[in-house]
Amino acid sequence: MKSKINTLNEKLSQAYLGGGQVRIDKQHTNKKLTARERVNYLLDDGSFEEIGALVTHRTKDFGMEKQKFYGDGVVTGYGTINGKLVYIFAQDFTVFGGSLSETHAEKICKVMDLAVKVGAPMIGLNDSGGARIQEGVRSLGGYADIFYRNVQASGVIPQISAIMGPCAGGAVYSPAMTDFTMMVEGTSYMFVTGPNVVKTVTNEEVTSEELGGASTHSTKSGVAHITSTNDVECLEDIKRLLSYLPQNNTETPTRFPFELKDEVRESLSSIIPDNANKPYDMHEVISGIIDADSFYEIHKDYAENIIVGFARLGGRSVGIVANQPMYLAGVLDVNSAKKAARFVRFCDAFNIPLLVLEDVPGFLPGTDQEWDGIIVHGAKLLYAFSEATIPRVTVITRKAYGGAYDVMNSKHIGADMNFAWPSAEIAVMGAKGAAEIIFKKEINAAEDKEAKWKEKEAEYAELFANPYSAAERGFIDEVILPKDTRRKLIKAFSMLESKEVEKPKRKHGNIPL
Ligand code: HXC
Repeated sequence: MKSKINTLNEKLSQAYLGGGQVRIDKQHTNKKLTARERVNYLLDDGSFEEIGALVTHRTKDFGMEKQKFYGDGVVTGYGTINGKLVYIFAQDFTVFGGSLSETHAEKICKVMDLAVKVGAPMIGLNDSGGARIQEGVRSLGGYADIFYRNVQASGVIPQISAIMGPCAGGAVYSPAMTDFTMMVEGTSYMFVTGPNVVKTVTNEEVTSEELGGASTHSTKSGVAHITSTNDVECLEDIKRLLSYLPQNNTETPTRFPFELKDEVRESLSSIIPDNANKPYDMHEVISGIIDADSFYEIHKDYAENIIVGFARLGGRSVGIVANQPMYLAGVLDVNSAKKAARFVRFCDAFNIPLLVLEDVPGFLPGTDQEWDGIIVHGAKLLYAFSEATIPRVTVITRKAYGGAYDVMNSKHIGADMNFAWPSAEIAVMGAKGAAEIIFKKEINAAEDKEAKWKEKEAEYAELFANPYSAAERGFIDEVILPKDTRRKLIKAFSMLESKEVEKPKRKHGNIPL
């Protein structure tokens, strides 16, 4: 028995090579931690239980039988974060570039299966050169086994991917099918084919950073939801994100203690400028409404004309979708519609109520948008809101024009409570454009065309540039003062807490992809 224990100790000490003993703290800003350091930092002290530490690959080709490493390039297991169970894998780039072999994939699949059976989040710390080239189709099969599980787990447990090194080929598709992709600036890349292949096929010269760095994916492609400056910050971000989420789709997020007091927020009264065409920062409205410092923005640098993120309101997790007048006047376009639609669907899948703050002049016109398919992408957001059954509340702060009024969580598509500030303008379009169209003949016939136009514009504005005709029809439930918004919303979400919606029997809808 003693010799067997010695053998086990020897194998484990080989398996644990790679920095498990190093103590990492928040000040530790080394660019790259090892796989074990990442796991140890992320999970509560002493909570990690490893599964499959002694697994090795089975390949004999290319002399691989002489190059075996315990764990086969990935650390897998479970532990807790702030006391809550999570499952985890962390790829080890020092073993064949973290590439995915058949057994490496089996280890990941094993923890994914457990995560779904038990109902706890799955976290992947990715650092991989993709399919292990020496294994051929076996590694491709391994990837497909993971992809399949990503899809089966989608909407059942939260899935979070952190990209913490170069990730190529198959290594990018699993993250793409999870709920959130985080990237570390300067050390992580994601691409289907790297710069060398790009050069060979298209003759383009591009660096890894330009092709698939954190900045590219957080601003241009939208692949990355959150970026961090180093590994430690990225792991802290995972912890923060999880604090807003439930363990699985049958649970609700943890509620923080809260007692309703007066909740009046005078600061909200002075945000909307007198001139309706002047921008203001919707972040100020958000922070005026939510619990102090609780906003966690997702996709911050992508499609900035719409803001999405998690916050707490009266101690409850809420998802916020808000037009941003500071950027492109807050219009809806292809990217903002896709960004918001995905966020709405995540919140709906995981029982996180939605707050919509609306100031939208419409959809962005132009050939670029039409040819890029604004029709189908705008429809995604319309579809996502329409199918969402979680509590949904809207506050119109200023403009709610045209189709965008319908799309942005209007009463007509199933919102539960719709509020408007007195500054709201709910109409088919702005007064100037509307007057030009419907009073065209009168304006053209007038001696002073400019004056006539102004007169008709004022007439239209008087009738429609307000929230009252929508409130008369019940499309708006209440016109509220900005300073009362926080209290009204806390009460509305509390009232909606036990909301239940029966859906018609069907396999699934057909969202316009
Ligand atoms: C086996 C690999 C590997 C792989 C890297 N390595 N990728 N071994 N299979 N896929 C090994 C290298 O041989 C090297 O081993 C070590 O990992 C480190 O790699 P380097 O190239 O030295 O590192 P770096 O310069 O940082 O470049 C990282 C990289 C690059 C950008 C990831 O290695 C790379 O381009 N790898 C190949 C990417 C790729 O094409 N993957 C296959 C995609 S096909 P030594 O022993 O020298 O230290 C795919 C299909 C799935 O994934 C499709 C699903 C839809």
